[in-house]
Amino acid sequence: MNFELTEEQLTVQKAARDFAQTELLPGVVERDTEMKFPAEQIKKMGELGFMGMMADPKFNGGGMDSISYVLAMEEISKIDASASVCMSVNNSLVCWGIERFGTEEQKEKYLNKLTTAEYIGAFCLSEPEAGSDATSQRTTAEDKGDYYLLNGTKNWITNGKSASVYVVIAQTHPEKKHKGINALIVERGMPGFVVGKKEDKMGIRGSDTHSLMFTDVKVPKSNRIGDDGFGFTFAMTTLNGGRIGIAAQALGIATGAYELALKYSKERKAFNKHLSEHQAIQFKLADMATKINAARLLVWQAAYLKDQKKDFVKAAAMAKLFASQIAQEVTTEAVQIHGGYGYVKEFHVERLMRDAKITQIYEGTTEIQKMVISRELLR
Ligand code: CAA
Repeated sequence: MNFELTEEQLTVQKAARDFAQTELLPGVVERDTEMKFPAEQIKKMGELGFMGMMADPKFNGGGMDSISYVLAMEEISKIDASASVCMSVNNSLVCWGIERFGTEEQKEKYLNKLTTAEYIGAFCLSEPEAGSDATSQRTTAEDKGDYYLLNGTKNWITNGKSASVYVVIAQTHPEKKHKGINALIVERGMPGFVVGKKEDKMGIRGSDTHSLMFTDVKVPKSNRIGDDGFGFTFAMTTLNGGRIGIAAQALGIATGAYELALKYSKERKAFNKHLSEHQAIQFKLADMATKINAARLLVWQAAYLKDQKKDFVKAAAMAKLFASQIAQEVTTEAVQIHGGYGYVKEFHVERLMRDAKITQIYEGTTEIQKMVISRELLR
């Protein structure tokens, strides 16, 4: 077993770390406060190849492995989880989904631009009454011959307003339940498609999360991904990989908070010595570092299995389950170590603590990860 990163992986990691420090750190507090999407930064991330990292170079992708992707996700998430969720959805859900299951025409038309962030992608599964229970899709895609008539509402959509390309999951044959669902590529600006309210969120406040409304939107049949009725399997398969990206995000949030706490503990004095000289703080740091290391091993294992084309479903859900849980614990301890300073915005750890929570909710809640894991254990 080899845990050494290759030269190429180390280069990607450093490039992401440098980018996060120089381009994302300045302004991250303001973007969080003002709920401002990091549009310029995402554009630069596209130019640097972070938005289509694993896609084939023939579609302007980076042709990189999943390990490189999780390394970059961790580095970006240490500083700005709002930028990294945009990156994760674009890479793992939209680019990967279209590349793996889309037609050549769809790849030519959309993937080429998604990989460079000329287009940003959104993945639209959740609905007001179908979050975790994803089979209960109320959005309908009525078959009208050479097009689908799309009607319904999607909720909590990441990149909701900034996206140009939306992969929308909708029910075509209700009598077939989840086997009647389709995945359609919807373009911004299609008549009848309206971007709804922006959510005022607890964390990842720079990420634009919106509801979307579809009223008699005509979507050409050529925009369907896969065969008729493939949409649910498409969504589940795509989310399996997506969970590795979100696990890496949770890991990055935890690592970012830990590094800040470690640094602070060496600077701040209490009772005539540095915090880091107090055993109470040393034990906290030891626990935090151990949890982070365990999470990193799970994330790397899931990414490794995916790269080896082995079954990674259980490993991805375990990585997301564990990394999101320790992100809660580590960020809370980081705030504790900072004391009163941890509770104010300029010290960053309170933002990381708020950002950590969403990793236990999106791309499947903690409970959904346990369902996925136990399903794999028992089948
Ligand atoms: N991988 C592949 N296929 C899967 C699967 C998986 N992990 N889990 C279920 N399936 C398939 C099953 O094989 C079955 O297909 P067949 O009938 O063809 O055999 C079908 O799905 C239904 O399976 P179940 O009967 O087990 O379905 P269920 O309703 O009991 O549970 C679920 C399925 C796992 C809970 C699923 O609904 C799920 O994953 N829900 C969570 C959805 C989710 O993650 N939402 C996040 C929204 S996207 C997002 O957050 C993006 C963002 O903005 C950051």
